[in-house]
Amino acid sequence: MPDLAKTERILSRAARAPSSHNTQPWLFRFGETWIELLADRTRALPSNDPDDRELTISCGCALMTLRVAAAAEHLGCDVTLMPEAEDEDLLARLSFTGEPEAELAQLAPAIERRQTHRVAFEKRPVGEEHVATLFEAATSEGAWFVPLVREEDRQAAAGLVAEGDATLWQDPSWRRELAQWMHPRRTGDGLTLPWLALPAARLVVRRFDMGGGVAANDAHLAEGSPLLAVLGSFGDTPRHWLRAGQALQRLLLCGVGLGLQASFLNQPIQVARLRPDLQTLTGQEGPPQILLRMGYSKDQLVPTPRRPVADMVIGPEGPG
Ligand SMILES: Cc1cc2nc3c(=O)[nH]c(=O)nc-3n(C[C@H](O)[C@H](O)[C@H](O)COP(=O)(O)O)c2cc1C
Repeated sequence: MPDLAKTERILSRAARAPSSHNTQPWLFRFGETWIELLADRTRALPSNDPDDRELTISCGCALMTLRVAAAAEHLGCDVTLMPEAEDEDLLARLSFTGEPEAELAQLAPAIERRQTHRVAFEKRPVGEEHVATLFEAATSEGAWFVPLVREEDRQAAAGLVAEGDATLWQDPSWRRELAQWMHPRRTGDGLTLPWLALPAARLVVRRFDMGGGVAANDAHLAEGSPLLAVLGSFGDTPRHWLRAGQALQRLLLCGVGLGLQASFLNQPIQVARLRPDLQTLTGQEGPPQILLRMGYSKDQLVPTPRRPVADMVIGPEGPG
């Protein structure tokens, strides 16, 4: 039975999960033997993510982190996705029962070391054994994972990323939303910038379509990435998104253990008309959810901020 200190440690680690625009769109509720994960839709991104798909994937990442952190505290978890049919915000209930999953406990040290690396990686390719480990991590959580290996597929994906960038940047409401989530570090969320640069950067993003420059840079990153891979699901419902989020975080944490970091190039998924083209490149029947670039990196970046865990906790009514 976890004590309060253990629960606090588990929740603090879950808060380190990645989320789109670092919105941290989750809430936790807990009792002595359980934790519930809820969607915080006040932190949604209506322009970037109109169906809360990425919001739910982000919560899936937090769910995987809860499972890993619980295993590291020697707690087994029984997880029920969306346990109450009439409450679509209640995304998962974890009951502490049974044996801890040793494989998950091993991933715990990676929670704090995982970071989104938007910069170039070391040039060397990702070894086949490491790709197989990432594949195993993703598929064990009910997602599919397809590395884009053929040069023509990588170039086509890079082209879709550039086209996605151009489309998104043309949309003033998408730019306004991005600018709204550019925050000084002290706010504990959002995409952080030094406070001196912040007002000018926000103004530029809000006012100007910089799609051309961003597209060229992202396409270059995509083409040059040691591993370019698509994570997808076997359907496109909130349950599938939760599974995809858990698969994503599991593969990211596994990657860190191998010296790998990742960043996201999701534009061809965010722009609905490009999504089928990306799917065709993967040869999969289910929809793509995340486009990742991965590679080896020894750089430890300044960690992105998180809100205090107390702001993510609601209470006290529990299961049943
Ligand atoms: C579902 C999802 C979508 C994301 N999409 C993007 C993206 O399109 N571009 C990007 O640069 N980062 C993306 N990110 C990364 C987040 O911006 C990042 O997780 C957040 O800023 C926190 O930083 P950290 O991952 O270093 O902890 C995404 C993350 C998640 C979970």
